[in-house]
Amino acid sequence: MTKKSEYTDDYRDKTLYLPGPTEVRDDVIEAMAEPMFGHRMDRMTDLYTTIVEDTKEFLDTDQDVIILTASGTEFWESTTLNLVEDDMLVPTSGAFSERQANVADRLGKNVDRIEYEWGKAVKPEDIRAKLDENDYDAVGAVMNETSTGVRNPIEEIGDVVDEYPDTYFVVDAISCLGGDYIDIDEHGIDAIFTSTQKAFAMPPGLAVCTVSEEAYERELSKDSASWYGGFQRCLDYYDRKGQTHSTPAIPIMLAYRKQMKHMLEETHEERDKRHQEMAEYTRDWAREHFGLFPEEGYESQTVTCIENTQGIDVAETVETVSEEYDMVFSSGYGDLSEESFRIGHMGEHTVESITELTDAIEDVAGL
Ligand SMILES: Cc1ncc(COP(=O)(O)O)c(C=O)c1O
Repeated sequence: MTKKSEYTDDYRDKTLYLPGPTEVRDDVIEAMAEPMFGHRMDRMTDLYTTIVEDTKEFLDTDQDVIILTASGTEFWESTTLNLVEDDMLVPTSGAFSERQANVADRLGKNVDRIEYEWGKAVKPEDIRAKLDENDYDAVGAVMNETSTGVRNPIEEIGDVVDEYPDTYFVVDAISCLGGDYIDIDEHGIDAIFTSTQKAFAMPPGLAVCTVSEEAYERELSKDSASWYGGFQRCLDYYDRKGQTHSTPAIPIMLAYRKQMKHMLEETHEERDKRHQEMAEYTRDWAREHFGLFPEEGYESQTVTCIENTQGIDVAETVETVSEEYDMVFSSGYGDLSEESFRIGHMGEHTVESITELTDAIEDVAGL
């Protein structure tokens, strides 16, 4: 039984190297401290239309954009409800893709899994073989498997799914969008979503999803679509009023506005470059001292999963780095907790800030 453990005013600030939430700029945190206003006021229309249109510009997409008060998980549910009548194909290769499949199971869909060993990447030819065998309403795939540090070849998978016009392609890009460039409109993607606490480097509480015209149309012909995350409900409300269908987390949207301006200033391409540099630095460091968990050639640009080849005590190292250096990184996911550990190099981090963490790990682990 969980007991209450009283929240106090006495916590030391820690620098976050987690695979989300990640560090948020001070001015973005400060942007939340505004007097409250109503979600049907003109000020709200200004705020919501600004963040939606800025996001489209940043992602360079012609698709519609929904920004919803929810964590990213909401879009596992709503994209499934909106697009899948019966059958869905989900390649699973880690905790999050397994959960995506599980969500669709729970919604009563027939889920066909292609099961990969954790650490392996999804292969486009396996998707093609399944699509040749069966009719699926949708393929759902995770772009960046946060539990294993694998970046799946979503562009190539999308090009395959695009050859099957009755099958929609749904992409969970939660732990990489904004830190790993993807041309959304070029690869047959019908919906791609993220959460604000990852590479967007905002506080948690909002989820962002792009929606293709075909996906929007598809939902119109379905009577079992999601209410809260219904494409039609969200997008029609935006079209008519420039607002959200229900009361949003206004302070987080204020933070979003501020951070998206920073992101536009940096540009998507430059953000991608900075993340590439951080990923390369972290991989080189990992290869020098340990090993890499993901299949070669499919390493994530935002989360490096390091194989604990030295047999260090991962839990103790994480704890000591937190205690002595006020920096927090992650042990391996689930059963991999001692076999691996993960460094989130996303959002506003730089090679310099990542180096501070790797120096601390070297000190603590005696490398
Ligand atoms: C790949 C992936 N999908 C889904 C989720 C769930 O996101 P949220 O906690 O925002 O619902 C996460 C969270 O870490 C993730 O990394």
